[in-house]
Amino acid sequence: MTANDIRQNFTKYFEENGHKAIPSYPVVPQNDPSVLFTTAGMHPLVPYLMGEAHPLGRRLVDTQICLRTNDIDEVGDSDHLTFFEMLGYWSFGDYFKKESIKYTFDFYTQVLGFDQNKISVTVFAGDEDAPFDEESYNIWKNEIDISEERIFKYDKKENWWGPAAETGPCGPDTEMFIDTGLEKCSPSCGPACHCDKYTEIGNNVFMEYFKNVEGQYEKLSQKNVDVGIGLERLAMLSQGKKSVFETDLFKPIVSKIEDLAKVSSEKKEKSIRIIADHLRAATFVLAEQIEPSNIDRGYIARRLIRRAIRHGRNLGITGNFTSTVAKEVIAVMGESYPLLKENEKFINRELDQEEEKFRKTLENGLKKFNQIVIRRDHQGISGKEAFDLFQSFGFPIEITEELAEENKLTVDLENFKVEYRKHQELSRKGSEKKFKGGLGDQSEQTIKYHTAAHLMLEALRRVLGPHVSQRGANITQERLRFDFSHPDKMTETQLKAVEEMVNDKINSKLPVIETITTVEEAKGNGATGIFDSKYGDKVKVYTIGGDLYSTEAFSKEICGGPHIKNTGQLNYFRIKKEESSSAGVRRIKAILE
Ligand code: ALA
Repeated sequence: MTANDIRQNFTKYFEENGHKAIPSYPVVPQNDPSVLFTTAGMHPLVPYLMGEAHPLGRRLVDTQICLRTNDIDEVGDSDHLTFFEMLGYWSFGDYFKKESIKYTFDFYTQVLGFDQNKISVTVFAGDEDAPFDEESYNIWKNEIDISEERIFKYDKKENWWGPAAETGPCGPDTEMFIDTGLEKCSPSCGPACHCDKYTEIGNNVFMEYFKNVEGQYEKLSQKNVDVGIGLERLAMLSQGKKSVFETDLFKPIVSKIEDLAKVSSEKKEKSIRIIADHLRAATFVLAEQIEPSNIDRGYIARRLIRRAIRHGRNLGITGNFTSTVAKEVIAVMGESYPLLKENEKFINRELDQEEEKFRKTLENGLKKFNQIVIRRDHQGISGKEAFDLFQSFGFPIEITEELAEENKLTVDLENFKVEYRKHQELSRKGSEKKFKGGLGDQSEQTIKYHTAAHLMLEALRRVLGPHVSQRGANITQERLRFDFSHPDKMTETQLKAVEEMVNDKINSKLPVIETITTVEEAKGNGATGIFDSKYGDKVKVYTIGGDLYSTEAFSKEICGGPHIKNTGQLNYFRIKKEESSSAGVRRIKAILE
């Protein structure tokens, strides 16, 4: 079965079982600069797991493009990837464990034709936060007929998923594995030992808990199901391949890299896989108009591209090659993700530029390296020097090692690793902090700020003109940061007028009303917002001070929510700062008091 067939059959199977299909959300979350990338299908759906109504109902199915860099060092083996497609389906307070386990199992065995006897499963063993998931255990054993020696019980580390951020929905999960038939690596070998015997094929999460800021697990108002199944691994198994890189999702990309390669070395296969994965990921990030840079998303794009270039060197490739590989990625994936084709020019240009820049950095790094060598009065390059080369000139440690060898020097690898780990720890903390400000936080205060942002956007439009549109929002419990299009610095008078208008609407205690309707109807009644296809043909509109059809409503915006019920809950709104964000875009920081 081709990957495309799998995607289509998955959607069809779940549509037949009452689910509504939604398109993938972008891999770069929209209007949320606080989250770097979408890392799971449930990310953009958190409000619905928390109880918001989705315009299309309680059962959804999709294929979500995801990017995770936490396993970047594992890429190169048979099935680790930074970028992947996740087949997902959800029940928002509708069916629960029994139906969900049955759906997943039937999809594997009936639709994909996997051998039932090769399936092993794991369930949550229970701890002080939540009990043993006996229900799932019994469903597998009694209703699906999986023999007990193929049902494994594990703790939270293996069988609990979420929250995706510091707080948020989460719950015990049951995971499915294909037994590859290899010998057990030890008598206690099971899916959790992560040897090659078991390949994970999917994860059913029973999201009935909410982890709060104190780290406690509260029950959510509804019981949800969140299921994620990696498409690449399914393709690998259903096509009888040994690695995801041999499936039709990767084969043409890998062949192109093989053509470009000038040398054959033992590292070749790993380098080819890394290039294929990283440039596929980078192509998708660039397709969202993210430029490689030294911060945030741009930095991830840069890192992926530069790692690919460096592995290109392992293969003896000296000229620009990344855009040639990206073309192949677009050829394979462009049909399913038209954004790639639409942004092909941008992707090629950015890749070419990045390769040029990296080449220059390499040259400068070489100069620095030579200075170190000349000054040298002993035989070793210290860990700190090696790390500086890595940090300032993007010098991968392998290059430093090669150069050191040529100069009959050694590299203090141990201390390089110490420095590197320190750096990793710092950047990890940075990204956790980023994430915290994002969707994971569904506190009442954050929701109030969200409603304040709607009031402010409308006030800006009325004071500055209808050209004002939202360019980004970052909302935390402490403040709101809002980017919008406007060419000039705002005057004191304009700022005061916006502040007063928002406070007037707060004092009027206006109701906030939610309507589910079609895009046409929303537009026709004056709602603004991003008319993308993320809800399919239905959208949710939040109106303040009247319903969608009234002329009195102050604000009408297409938005996923959540919002508070009445503006009176906001108290007092104050603008703290107005500044430039980028060309033609202004930024306001505001607080509620
Ligand atoms: N959210 C779950 C995962 O990513 C399904 O594995």
